[in-house]
Amino acid sequence: MKDTIRQLIQNALNQLVNEGVLPEGLTPAIQVENARDKTHGDFASNIAMMLAKPAGMKPRDLADKIIAALPADPQISKVEIAGPGFLNFFQNTDALAARLDAALADPKLGVAKAGAQQRVVVDLSAPNLAKEMHVGHLRSTIIGDGVARVLEFLGDDVIRQNHVGDWGTQFGMLLAYLQEKPATSDELSDLENFYRAAKQRFDESEEFADRARGLVVKLQAGDAECLALWQRFNEISLSHCQKTYDRLNVKLTPADVKGESAYNDDLANVVTDLKAKGLLVESNGAQCVFLEEFKTAEGTPLPVIVQKAGGGYLYATTDLAAVRYRSNVLKANRALYFVDQRQALHFQQVFEVARRAGFVSNDMQMEHMGFGTMNGADGRPFKTRDGGTVKLIDLLDEAQERAYALVKEKNPELPEADLRNIAKVVGIGAVKYADLSKHRTSDYSFNFDLMLNFEGNTAPYLLYAYTRVAGVFRKLGKDFSEVEGQIQLAAPQEQELAARLAQFGEVLNNVAEKGTPHILCTYLYDVAGLFSSFYENCPILAADTPEQQQSRLRLAALTGRTLKQGLELLGLETLERM
Ligand code: ARG
Repeated sequence: MKDTIRQLIQNALNQLVNEGVLPEGLTPAIQVENARDKTHGDFASNIAMMLAKPAGMKPRDLADKIIAALPADPQISKVEIAGPGFLNFFQNTDALAARLDAALADPKLGVAKAGAQQRVVVDLSAPNLAKEMHVGHLRSTIIGDGVARVLEFLGDDVIRQNHVGDWGTQFGMLLAYLQEKPATSDELSDLENFYRAAKQRFDESEEFADRARGLVVKLQAGDAECLALWQRFNEISLSHCQKTYDRLNVKLTPADVKGESAYNDDLANVVTDLKAKGLLVESNGAQCVFLEEFKTAEGTPLPVIVQKAGGGYLYATTDLAAVRYRSNVLKANRALYFVDQRQALHFQQVFEVARRAGFVSNDMQMEHMGFGTMNGADGRPFKTRDGGTVKLIDLLDEAQERAYALVKEKNPELPEADLRNIAKVVGIGAVKYADLSKHRTSDYSFNFDLMLNFEGNTAPYLLYAYTRVAGVFRKLGKDFSEVEGQIQLAAPQEQELAARLAQFGEVLNNVAEKGTPHILCTYLYDVAGLFSSFYENCPILAADTPEQQQSRLRLAALTGRTLKQGLELLGLETLERM
């Protein structure tokens, strides 16, 4: 709808330019917002205020002219001027109802991508395999998964790339320990302990440390025995990750893993190619790219180091190889990186070097979708009581336990198996939703009590809202698809719910463009709230006429399907009752 209004305004502006009312060559960004107060219309634009000066007119006078030049549109019933010169648009309720009827008949709920379909690489999760996944990997995994799902729903061709850290000096230490104490898979199943024990040996024995360093060299030289050990270790570590992904209901599979080691053979080429482009400078024996735009506040240049003095390659070298692969082999139009905000400089540098070196096609967009830190409820970095990192698995266990206690308190009579299932959906959903509902770039405090609250913008609230809609249909012995008739929008609560439901597509396009699932969370929370007022004020089972009942049921069905689809795009499971 906002796009339609923007287009109408654009047409009016073109006409005013033709009439000489507006000067030529203006290309304003036309803003259209949801009106705050619905009695003053559904959408508002400040365009007349923006253009008053260049037009040499008072904003309200220009607003008059724009309204006169606006083409008629069946979806708009009237346009008024408000305040200092806002244009307020009123949506035609019959046209709105017809759009919702069409959405109800569409498996995609009337949602379509704005713009051309693209091939999008989504770089997400990417834990380091030497250790077990910890809370630091949660955000990348679930925010990346949410955005990938939305892109897919809009019809993009999404390629997930799990750029795991499966290479590097820590592996020498782990291999040395494995050699010394051949561990069974079972023993390795606690990677955290294994890593700690290896590190302890490394720190206390000079001889062990030397052996570890020697093993890295052998590994990198392709020694068969080392490679076999390394592979076994990685397989076990990856199977841990996969268990966590499955538990989190994240769409990642072993096929999405393309770790750092996958680019080994290309690293020397990256360096040679940069050299051939004249981009390399040797500095203290290291191979570096210096770019004018990267300097410290004091003006000291910040190089991108691609090869160390000893010959070793770095994180940036691997990322350069990876981005080239994503462009040349995967043929991506867009590459999105869901990685901690603290790596912002790294990605700016990698993207810029890749462009200068011609490693990526000119029209491939590269976007670092950075995110803030997850803190504890006290606002300090999230740690265990004794200051260690929190294993993701332990966090999920606790979430499920707490959810179980809550659900059992509310419904003590439910069979144990049902309680466990509800606790799983609510517990995991709460952890995910709490994260997804915050703006990606801000830090946030992890707080079990808040995320498990049944009120507010939380998973339990939304899951419960969904069960209420489902409950209406259960009482009637129908499902969402068995609703005849047409939507009629009479009561204000019907109109408000309808207007918000009609924005699902716009919201999803926004999430896809900006990589911000919180926009979808806010939307679902709004829809749930509007459904509540509708449900209280507009009786369904006790409606006045059969037509009214059908109309209300259709609105409820569309609400139910929108909530379910929206939650699924966030990677949350839903329950029919709880
Ligand atoms: N393994 C890295 C880390 O834990 C994240 C990798 C992100 N992706 C990338 N292409 N650099 O910090």
